[in-house]
Amino acid sequence: MSQSRSTLQFQSSQSLEIDQSQVKQFLQEIETDPMGGWLNLPQDYGRSEFKRIKKTAQAIQTNSEYLVCIGIGGSYLGHRAVIDALQPQSPTKVLYAGNSLSPRELDNLFAKLDDKDFSINVISKSGTTTEPAIAFRFLKEKLFARYGDRAASRIYATTDASFGALHNEAVQNNYSRFTVPNNIGGRYSVLTAVGLLPLAVSGVDIDQLMSGAARELLALRSSLDHDTLDSLPAVQYAYMRHSLYQSGLETEVFATFEPCLREFGEWWKQLFGESEGKQHQGILPTSVVYTTGLHSLGQYLQDGRRNIFETMLEFTTASGPDFQIPSIANNPDGLGYLEGMKLSDINQKALQATVDAHRNGGIPVLEIISPELDIINLGRLIYFFELACALSAKLSGVNPFDQPGVEDYKTRMFELLGRTS
Ligand code: PA5
Repeated sequence: MSQSRSTLQFQSSQSLEIDQSQVKQFLQEIETDPMGGWLNLPQDYGRSEFKRIKKTAQAIQTNSEYLVCIGIGGSYLGHRAVIDALQPQSPTKVLYAGNSLSPRELDNLFAKLDDKDFSINVISKSGTTTEPAIAFRFLKEKLFARYGDRAASRIYATTDASFGALHNEAVQNNYSRFTVPNNIGGRYSVLTAVGLLPLAVSGVDIDQLMSGAARELLALRSSLDHDTLDSLPAVQYAYMRHSLYQSGLETEVFATFEPCLREFGEWWKQLFGESEGKQHQGILPTSVVYTTGLHSLGQYLQDGRRNIFETMLEFTTASGPDFQIPSIANNPDGLGYLEGMKLSDINQKALQATVDAHRNGGIPVLEIISPELDIINLGRLIYFFELACALSAKLSGVNPFDQPGVEDYKTRMFELLGRTS
């Protein structure tokens, strides 16, 4: 089960039956779903807003050392994942707020902003989410104290085109506005202004990101045209994880050997957790970064309960910096056999060893294999996981695009806080 090396590949040691007519049916349902706008987004996205995003990003880079992105869940995890993965160069660093209610967190953020020029990108599709709304109050206060009348020109609001408290405030105060399309939900929104403005500010080439995602969309369309949906890696991944779930494996561990993908794991967990965990069913998604995780969760995976499968994100080509193990006289640490070897090769051997050990220990390992870790392939991976997630939720018979369970804590919190309206 594999594709050519220049595309994403999916590999697993289990065999799989895929009903192509069912996949087609699911795709039709997604395409016509009021929240299915992400499916064709890599080709359908609004070019004029895209241009405005790039222009605005340049303006922010000229006047701000920091852009504070206020948002929670799907309103920040996607761009944070890409920025952490690529660590791009930019005069403006992106900081985050509004994803917790911790005073310590806010205090740490304020300490960073002292004496620094900054702007705010407040991101909320509904425009009414409590955590970002509270953070926005604090940050507005700071911004107005610093810039007075000019403060409003440093506020960028990404929200619904016509509804919500944030939309109304932005219109009244003339903040620059960007749109969360009404047919795309938070966790599927990284390729909209939600992710694109912070990414462009951080120095990510958003044209390349979109072109990576567009390649996956083209691969999907081509498999539809040629009746080869059963060999599309995202489809294979969705069906394999569903089949493992049906066989009793209830936990999926998303694993990577690149610490810069830790936040990608957070985005992945939100995407799958909020899309699938419904009606008292769904795979529990968790994530781990190796090799550090081999010295913690690794023990559980090798030797704990056998109710787990693992999804390993791998890269075929080592790109970026590399190091050779230096020679030392008298071999004091016993590592002489590694002298001259590249660190990336050792990391790769650790990966192979882990896949082998976990498979031998009875853990099914699903491998998602990408060409190098770069912006194009991150664009591909974002689309790949969105597609796999929506199909996977469809296989379980749940709506991939709602999150009714999130309301319960809010209702109770509002009661405790004495909200009256
Ligand atoms: O994926 C989702 O829909 C959620 O995680 C939302 O992104 C999150 O709750 C934030 O919502 P909003 O953008 O409306 O503030």
